[in-house]
Amino acid sequence: VTDQIQRNYLLANYGRHPIVFERGQGVMLYDADGKEYLDFLAGIAVCSLGHSHPALVKAIQDQAAKLLHVSNYFYTAPGIAAAEAIADHLGGGRVFFCNSGAEANEAAIKLARKVAWRNGHTDRVEIVSLEGSFHGRTLGSLAATIQPAKWEGFGPLPAGVVPIALNDIEALRTSVTARTAAVIFEPIQGEGGIRPVDEDFVVAARKLCWERGAILIADEVQTGMGRTGKWWGFEHFGVRPDVVTLAKGLGSGVPVGAMWVDESFADGLRPGDHGTTFGGGPLVCAAVKTVFDTIERERLVDNAFAMGERLASAIAPLGESVRGKGLLLGLELGRPIASAVVKAALEHGLVVNDVNASTIRLAPPLIVAEAEVDEAASRLKAAVAAVS
Ligand SMILES: Cc1ncc(COP(=O)(O)O)c(C=O)c1O
Repeated sequence: VTDQIQRNYLLANYGRHPIVFERGQGVMLYDADGKEYLDFLAGIAVCSLGHSHPALVKAIQDQAAKLLHVSNYFYTAPGIAAAEAIADHLGGGRVFFCNSGAEANEAAIKLARKVAWRNGHTDRVEIVSLEGSFHGRTLGSLAATIQPAKWEGFGPLPAGVVPIALNDIEALRTSVTARTAAVIFEPIQGEGGIRPVDEDFVVAARKLCWERGAILIADEVQTGMGRTGKWWGFEHFGVRPDVVTLAKGLGSGVPVGAMWVDESFADGLRPGDHGTTFGGGPLVCAAVKTVFDTIERERLVDNAFAMGERLASAIAPLGESVRGKGLLLGLELGRPIASAVVKAALEHGLVVNDVNASTIRLAPPLIVAEAEVDEAASRLKAAVAAVS
């Protein structure tokens, strides 16, 4: 393994652990030495059905044997079915497929500006975004990511983003104006440290967007597809956004993103306005449809809620507090030891990550069972003890 790593030609833009994973089954991962790990990261909240789920494997295999790609000049049956599955779960509307969360947010920003422009509001260009947010690494989605450290050396970024403090309703009131095209928020800030947004704040944002003619974008890239114990993170607040962006769990490991748009704004993008070659191809769309069907059939949203409660109470004694909902949890250790705990956890056969210096993120597959939750909690306990 060390030899393989030393010979690698991969750009060093990630801090990688010296582990080569070879295969996965359910909630388990196996490295090149055959060591077994409980995967409580799921590829960063991606592999919602776990690894090698037979329904997903079959869907991909069958579709690969039939048709891989044709371009967006045409329709395919999986593309239609996947869009319908998303629309069914969001109450109608329209879907644009892309290949990642960043692209879904790029599309949402472009849609919001184009809607304003079509309505003659050419100065309605601003995007209000929250401090600590994460919306992606492309220039537009990076500009909307209010984490200045991630901007360093990449300027100039696209203009027009208005940052406000998380949960600051007063700032929302002064920043959402006739110049605002959209407000974008994550129901729980994921990369920002598993920080839930206040219900009052989201309700105020919904109201202000209606009053002032702006579009409300829910970035559900990390929180969507059942992860928080409801289908969508925004359901915890009882609001309905105008645009929802998806990726990660949408394909359960197959790279796919999507932007859902309420019917009233669907006319914003017309033929030629926006696109991407690979977006919504039959292979990934066959996977998307299977992910929806499997989550429904196996009642995985309910499982995410129940297992989330169990996991949160099992790990609570290990740190100062637990943030998050369902199976998107952050264990706050209160000290900058998260990175050391992650390393110790790997030694104990548990995959988690340090979302910041003092917080461990846990985001297991939605199929996780009680015994696996209990075992992961006991491995994490051993890891924390090894570091303390
Ligand atoms: C909330 C949120 N939005 C957008 C993104 C970007 O997604 P991607 O890495 O697929 O571009 C992420 C990734 O972590 C995310 O958590």
